[in-house]
Amino acid sequence: MSQSDKYPAESGRRRFVKGVVGGAALAGVGAAGSATVNSLTTAGGVGGGQTVAMTIAHTGGPAPRGLPQIPVQVNDDGFIEGIWPETDTIEEEGMEVEVAQEELGGRTYSGAWFQYCGIESQENVDPNHESDNIFRASPGTYDWQDELYDDGDQIHIDDFDDYDTWGNGIGQDGVGKPATVTWRSEDADTDLNAVVIRSTQIEEAAAEDEWLEASTDEGFMAYLNVCTHFCCIPGYKELEESARYNAEDGAYCVCHQSTYDPFTLEEALFVARPRPD
Ligand code: FES
Repeated sequence: MSQSDKYPAESGRRRFVKGVVGGAALAGVGAAGSATVNSLTTAGGVGGGQTVAMTIAHTGGPAPRGLPQIPVQVNDDGFIEGIWPETDTIEEEGMEVEVAQEELGGRTYSGAWFQYCGIESQENVDPNHESDNIFRASPGTYDWQDELYDDGDQIHIDDFDDYDTWGNGIGQDGVGKPATVTWRSEDADTDLNAVVIRSTQIEEAAAEDEWLEASTDEGFMAYLNVCTHFCCIPGYKELEESARYNAEDGAYCVCHQSTYDPFTLEEALFVARPRPD
């Protein structure tokens, strides 16, 4: 991605949401994606198939696409939860199948956004998996989180009050305050790892964009923290060496140096494998 793409000269501001649904950018993603994907996966079957997800932008390294965004909301008690799409029964290839899919912020939001790296066979993304969808702390990355939370504690908006100034010595302060969390994992055998960030950039951009207005809340956004390259766990503002790859204020995957920008969202094509059953 060129700098001019991220920071259009005419506005002098960062363009938060990239990509045009149905436009040239999306067509390009589709063409490149399917060439890669068709050789790796079965064509769409029950529970499988292509989906266009909103992702935090892939900005460097070998990963093929960004990390899927998880729409969020702050519930009435102040806890941060991910939105899981409504489950519906549709007919696919002559069979009735359950899908988690709904219209949100002018887009089709689907549980299939999170089906790669073998996650498609995890119970967390089963359309009917029961969960309160509240993000739960998975400490060990940030000091602030280690001090406040035990593993599995629900994360709360009050603990992000300093989000406009927070820093940890990596990159700039005030970019966004993160928490490493699990999602839909409280009664599951496997964890779904995610990162939640509260940022003024998100707050401001949401005032001007239908998708962000629907998928973020009070400056909170979230994404699935599984690298689309070989499925490692990237780190947001976690490692000093990320600065060598211009990712000190973004997400950096130490395995093969892929980088992602949580503050630039773009569409990406994913192909989910059919469910094992
Ligand atoms: S860059 Fe290879 S797994 Fe992340």
